[in-house]
Amino acid sequence: MDVLFVSSEVAPFSKTGGLGDVAASLPGALSARGHRVAVVTPRYGGIDPQRHGFTWLTTSLEARGERCGLWLKKGGPGTPAVYLLEHDLFYGFRRNPYGEGGSDYPDNPARFAFLARAALELPRALQFRPAVVHFNDWQTALGPWFLRAEHHDDPWLAGARSVFTIHNLAYQGMFAKSFMDLLGLPWSIFRLDGGVEFHDQLNFMKAGLSFADALTTVSPNYAREILTVEGGYGLDTVLRSRSGDLFGILNGIDDREWDPARDPHLPVHYDRRDLRGKVRVKAALQAELGLPVKPHVPLVGLVGRLADQKGIDLLAAATPALLRSDAQFALLGSGQREFEEFFAWVGRERPDRFAARIGFDEGMAHRIEAGSDLFLMPSRFEPCGLNQMYSLRYGTPPVARAVGGLVDTVEDYDGWKRGNGFLFGPLDPVALVVATRRALDVWRDVRAWRGIQERGMDIDFSWERSAERYEALYRGLAEG
Ligand code: ADP
Ligand code: GLC
Repeated sequence: MDVLFVSSEVAPFSKTGGLGDVAASLPGALSARGHRVAVVTPRYGGIDPQRHGFTWLTTSLEARGERCGLWLKKGGPGTPAVYLLEHDLFYGFRRNPYGEGGSDYPDNPARFAFLARAALELPRALQFRPAVVHFNDWQTALGPWFLRAEHHDDPWLAGARSVFTIHNLAYQGMFAKSFMDLLGLPWSIFRLDGGVEFHDQLNFMKAGLSFADALTTVSPNYAREILTVEGGYGLDTVLRSRSGDLFGILNGIDDREWDPARDPHLPVHYDRRDLRGKVRVKAALQAELGLPVKPHVPLVGLVGRLADQKGIDLLAAATPALLRSDAQFALLGSGQREFEEFFAWVGRERPDRFAARIGFDEGMAHRIEAGSDLFLMPSRFEPCGLNQMYSLRYGTPPVARAVGGLVDTVEDYDGWKRGNGFLFGPLDPVALVVATRRALDVWRDVRAWRGIQERGMDIDFSWERSAERYEALYRGLAEG
């Protein structure tokens, strides 16, 4: 099948979170299954296309009267073709996908409406006839509407069906309704039922939910949670009305990128059979972070956006109690300023126990996953979560809150022979402390711990199975 895949971030060219990872590896897995996939994403200022092996195309495209240049990184058997859209809205003076210095670019609605529109011009420009156009998250959520309304007589998209994947329902892309005119959207769709209106505002996410032929989200458990009032962020009614078209498909991980046996970011490698290398990665990480190099002190890691979603407020509240246990902590993240400042301060106060690295650092993320003994994920909500899968693969059992995709991937240790990590329920710092202490106690029991590690490392989180499910969905749509 020919598939057009549209995403506002694609790793390694751009990435602010898991979306970038998924938009890189799902198209790869689909290509490996023999499909022809074209991935479309903006060329932000921070991307150097030549360094990544892109070539400039003489073909350009036009969307709503605007010309847009194209860079191509050629695909082949098992690799998707990637197109970068070059336009002032993305490139020029702007480096990042969404904003700078803690604020979003004010013209994001125009930028991302343009992304969805330009992506839909690609089939004509390249003479490519996709059976399915797959859009991701609010940034591309107007796409299903544009496909219906602006391409019904486009021979290159005739019969193309749309899939919209919700990676995170909390970010909906809500803007003043005056954008309806600016973006050339008809007022007939500014309605609550089956439209884009939400509390008298324009809601991009709602366009995806209303107009896509099929909806997916990134774990089965999150697919259930978003149908409830608590988990639906005001969109549960729309989602319930479409529950027959909603599928929860668990994300996979790129198991070549995240493999302790050959990860280039690690000083030493290891695998499930021989974990000695992990001990050396831990020592190197302790040294790199300026922590005392002590093999017998457990090291607890966390990598992620420092945002409420990740339960960082819980962690902040739990920090004094956690620091009373005999453990070291390694935190890597960036996000809300108050959290950045708080953890940087804890790191200055307790350099012997707490290392905080504020920023985005791919290599350090890999070393924390590998070198830690335990990985924290106290998420308030979590559509899927990739970090817990990385940590399981690296023999670093997670302590996670029992929500969203964490429930589908982490199994609580039963004190005996089952479980690959530690789950807790209440959204409460005390529950996080209790679960972490429980894990640290088990850590002292070398045999029990080894069992937990092995059960985690045995799980196959590769994309194959998930890609098969997307493929079945695409086929169903194309044939239906
Ligand atoms: P989300 O998409 O909600 O942020 P995920 O767990 O799905 O959460 O994915 C997060 C991805 O971003 C992972 O690949 C993780 O390693 C990476 N990541 C998050 N914060 C950082 C950081 N500060 N430095 C490096 N990588 C990070
Ligand atoms: C979102 C979610 C995260 C998920 C990722 C990739 O950013 O917050 O849970 O893993 O998308 O689907």
